[in-house]
Amino acid sequence: MSLPLITPNTTVLRPLIAGNWKMHGLRADGLALASALVELQRSEGVRNYEMVLFPPATLIGAVEPVLRDSGVGVGGQDCHSAERGAFTGDVSAAMLADLGCSYVITGHSERRQHHGETDALVKAKATAGLRAGLSVIVCVGETQAERDSGEAKAVILRQLAGSLPDGSTGDRVAIAYEPVWAIGTGLTATAADIADMHATIRQALADLSTTPDAIRLLYGGSVKAANAAEIVATAHVNGVLVGGASLKADEFQAIAEAVSR
Ligand code: PGA
Repeated sequence: MSLPLITPNTTVLRPLIAGNWKMHGLRADGLALASALVELQRSEGVRNYEMVLFPPATLIGAVEPVLRDSGVGVGGQDCHSAERGAFTGDVSAAMLADLGCSYVITGHSERRQHHGETDALVKAKATAGLRAGLSVIVCVGETQAERDSGEAKAVILRQLAGSLPDGSTGDRVAIAYEPVWAIGTGLTATAADIADMHATIRQALADLSTTPDAIRLLYGGSVKAANAAEIVATAHVNGVLVGGASLKADEFQAIAEAVSR
């Protein structure tokens, strides 16, 4: 069944603009980027969006004091599903919260792809995030091969059902739809494809959440200042998860301005 491309958002949700730095930056880079962004944010009036940065775990402790009181939040790119234990190299959700994080991303396709993370593990991590008092962004996305074979929606619905924590509600959970083929490639899904997939996700949430209309649905994959306005104007898009373009303060600020227009 094909859904109408343009359906009005039933609820107006405050857009979430998330900047995923991935494995980029040494201390000096992270501090310079965060400081430059805070400076640009200073001239903002009332912000009708929420902005959160996701530095590498090594930089959270350095960046958080720069962002504190700026209105820009900080989060972790991943967490372990356990509260503590003999898990060399891992970081728990409680450790992120202890550093001042308010968010954690789980199930990013780079974790699913390079670390073999399953839906069940993504769900356990997201549940751990909620348990630690964090808000979570659960990522889903199909590969090019899955899209080409017409399975994109089935993949997304399976990932959603398997990865969302039980009792997910809009105050603590957001979902990022990130087609794998659009990440870091300069390719973006068309507005029609985004609208179609986000409407599908919104519909599926009716069975997965008691607040299906309150869960923010972000789009991610080669978002930049030049395409952000069109993307967030799409039905059921309530924000963006930005990788490469979040590494430049001017560009990321321009995305925020495009979103808030
Ligand atoms: P990109 O990454 O903006 O560099 O495509 C997005 C993401 O992986 O979250």
